Amino acid sequence: MEHLVSGAAGFIGSHLCERLLADGHSVLGLDNLITGSQRNLAHLANHSRFRFMQHDVTQPLELARRFDHVWHLASLASPKEYLAHPIETLESGSTGTRNMLEIARRDRARFLVTSTSECYGDPLQHPQVETYWGNVNPVGVRSCYDESKRYAEAMTMAYHRYYGVRTNIARIFNTYGPRMALKDGRVVPAFLDQALQGQPLTIFGDGTQTRSFCYVSDMVDGLVRLASSEERLPINLGNPVELTILEFAERIRLLMDAELPIVFEPLPQDDPQKRRPDISKARRLLGWEPKVKLEDGLRETVEYFKAMAPA
Ligand SMILES: NC(=O)c1ccc[n+]([C@@H]2O[C@H](COP(=O)([O-])OP(=O)(O)OC[C@H]3O[C@@H](n4cnc5c(N)ncnc54)[C@H](O)[C@@H]3O)[C@@H](O)[C@H]2O)c1
Repeated sequence: MEHLVSGAAGFIGSHLCERLLADGHSVLGLDNLITGSQRNLAHLANHSRFRFMQHDVTQPLELARRFDHVWHLASLASPKEYLAHPIETLESGSTGTRNMLEIARRDRARFLVTSTSECYGDPLQHPQVETYWGNVNPVGVRSCYDESKRYAEAMTMAYHRYYGVRTNIARIFNTYGPRMALKDGRVVPAFLDQALQGQPLTIFGDGTQTRSFCYVSDMVDGLVRLASSEERLPINLGNPVELTILEFAERIRLLMDAELPIVFEPLPQDDPQKRRPDISKARRLLGWEPKVKLEDGLRETVEYFKAMAPA
């Protein structure tokens, strides 16, 4: 089958391309490289069924090639990046999503968009189920990301309801693994970067806020299962094992076998206090749940970052 993947040079996108190729498909990857890197795709460069095109999804795209599946992952994805590029973030979720949906409509292809747990904002319901409408600050600094994804979900549902496009919406919770950008400010690379340099681990707030971490191979497996499901409404994909950021810092210290001190800094605006997916729907409809233990996933990630570190 022919697959079009936007955000292909990013963290999750590059793993998805790899998986689709391993499953025997052909893939055209799109990316404007605003945060992604062709280094993430270097190992696929000579693959006979893989092509890469540098392209901004907010711009129209005329392709002679026809697709069976369109995957829309292109977006600024870490708070550091979307706060630095708020307009581009809103554009990739709005115009970018529309452009990708148009390709799916033209080709009668299936379409999957990667939305986010940020749609729940700072949630008043815990854990978060898909039917919860969220507690989002629509004009806060993070709204460029949250609202771009909520718009993307709404546009995706409209294309399904109005044009009959076979769509899926993944609400992704924190995912980690090799090929995350080391300096993108997300907690896993931030801690590992500090730990590898023997620096103190920085915790924003008092560290009692919670997160859950899903390893990237589990996430890609969830996305692939979702892409053949007939469920149109959003499905949470993430790891339901919840840790406080303090507990997480402790795991990193254990893993790195290092007596790293912890320093505390003020909590950023609208940083959610609690984050944990209810994945009952994914378990029921996709037969999916994460399998990789945090320790194992972190070990793989550390190895990757060590290999990437400048000598
Ligand atoms: N990693 C997570 O924990 C997480 C959590 C929730 C949602 N998501 C979503 O999953 C998707 C992938 O995230 P990721 O962690 O791999 O991020 P990433 O930054 O590594 O990848 C995103 C890719 O999109 C590209 N991109 C951005 N704007 C573009 C545009 N206008 N045109 C073309 N390419 C563009 C970037 O260059 C980058 O390669 C995103 O949609 C993100 O919002 C990720």
